[in-house]
Amino acid sequence: MKVDILTLFPEMFPGYLNRSMLQRAQNAGFLQVKLHNIRDYARGKHRVTDEAPYGGGGGMVLKPQPLFAAVESVLDGEDIAFKSIPVILLTPQGRTFSQDIAEELAGEERLVLICGRYEGVDERVREHLATDEISIGDYVLTGGELAAMVIVDAVTRQIPGVLGAEGAAERDSYATGLLEGPQYTRPEVFRGWAVPEVLLSGHAARIEDWKRQQALRRTWRRRPELLLKTSLSEEDKRFLDTLTPEDVLKAGNEDVPGG
Ligand code: ADE
Repeated sequence: MKVDILTLFPEMFPGYLNRSMLQRAQNAGFLQVKLHNIRDYARGKHRVTDEAPYGGGGGMVLKPQPLFAAVESVLDGEDIAFKSIPVILLTPQGRTFSQDIAEELAGEERLVLICGRYEGVDERVREHLATDEISIGDYVLTGGELAAMVIVDAVTRQIPGVLGAEGAAERDSYATGLLEGPQYTRPEVFRGWAVPEVLLSGHAARIEDWKRQQALRRTWRRRPELLLKTSLSEEDKRFLDTLTPEDVLKAGNEDVPGG
């Protein structure tokens, strides 16, 4: 997959993109990221990229000209006209990013991500340039750069072959539709807290059952609405029936963050 990122701050990206899984994905040819500085496409001696909004209201708005010029230099006219390549504007007003959207985008050969900045982006960019608008959550960031990195990360994990361990992406929280259950590593006892017995039993089937139940319990306690969207076996349902609402309300509940 090739990803073109349009930003006023290309220097923000290498520290994250050129490490760990994303670095390996690039080295192995699964991912190619090209950073484009929006300022390079701005006309005029001063290469102005933002101006005060018409009608007042304070703040600055990204001008359409540099963004159109940048996309037009990155994609050919046909791709723009036929909207055959997603041109995604990162904005808090977009559809909320999710694992489903990551999977959907992983099927594309190319993506163009436009990082908004300042107080806003000229509306003509939304109307006539972007094919999609994505938010990474209901909060306002200073710009779309973090959102672009989040999307590149989550999407790259979904590209077949990127993750070494077979099926690791499928086991991730949300990919199974459930939150992941607890995980432990050495030592067996840390400051008096022991690893659950079953994980040391060497009994593969019992361990799998336990992991599934932990994932179901955690999801039921923290994000019960996810259970409505995932497919549950009869055994899953029987297990969920054994959980009581009081479990959630228990004082000092270890499974509720801050509980
Ligand atoms: N730019 C500013 N806030 C954002 C958000 N929550 N998601 C995507 N882009 C943004």
